[in-house]
Amino acid sequence: MEATYKNAPISFTSQGTGNPLVLLHGFLESKEIWQDFVVELSAKRQVICIDLPGHGESGNFAEVHTMADMAKAVKSVLDELDIQQASFAGHSMGGYVSLEFQNIFPTILNSLVLVNSTPQADSEKRKANRDRAATLVLKNKRAFVSMAMSNLLTPENNKIFKSQIDILKKRALQFSSTGIYAAIKGMKIRTDHTELFAKFQGQKIVVAGKNDPVLKYNTIKNLAKRCNSKFYSLPDGHLSFLENQIELREILHLID
Ligand code: MLT
Repeated sequence: MEATYKNAPISFTSQGTGNPLVLLHGFLESKEIWQDFVVELSAKRQVICIDLPGHGESGNFAEVHTMADMAKAVKSVLDELDIQQASFAGHSMGGYVSLEFQNIFPTILNSLVLVNSTPQADSEKRKANRDRAATLVLKNKRAFVSMAMSNLLTPENNKIFKSQIDILKKRALQFSSTGIYAAIKGMKIRTDHTELFAKFQGQKIVVAGKNDPVLKYNTIKNLAKRCNSKFYSLPDGHLSFLENQIELREILHLID
């Protein structure tokens, strides 16, 4: 199914009925990462999986896809489905988009789940890394995708999950370089939403991986505490939907 935002197609799936849950993938991913979760979840509720701009089958509409534009693209899907209230779970960049969605549309979210994600903005060091990544992706998408994806897991899990990672890489290689670039630049300038997350009155859950190479476990744990969020600790890396699928599935079942 398709909605439109700024003349670009925004691809999504919707399964099940009642009490909508929106699942948002992370950087270099697509709605397919939720495939193994949707069957069970949609037996109880409506589950909407969206390809964020520049990812999967969704199009590009700007040189930089800000988190605000991504959030508005998500809203175009909710409008298409005539949804007024929903719960959100976002993996990594999908979490950044969920927080920005709450910022722009503060009356829609019931629950907000950050999976391997953070309400914090990028540090100066991380911003400099983004610029290097953006340059590399335009020069050599294949090298960038391969490196970026492998960096999300420990060397051991890169071996254990090799076939699944190869599928993720293959899918990401189909995204346009300009779409990947636009997301990198958008994440770089995202707003810090720690206070917004702290003030959010709905159900809130943070899920962190003990060996996440991207987000420091202890920092995320402390942030969750500071924001009065429920906190779930998983044993592996940044790709909980793959590395700790069974545990993550149980957590997603807890969403109101
Ligand atoms: C993601 O998985 O979405 C990215 O690692 C997020 C980021 O680069 O900050």
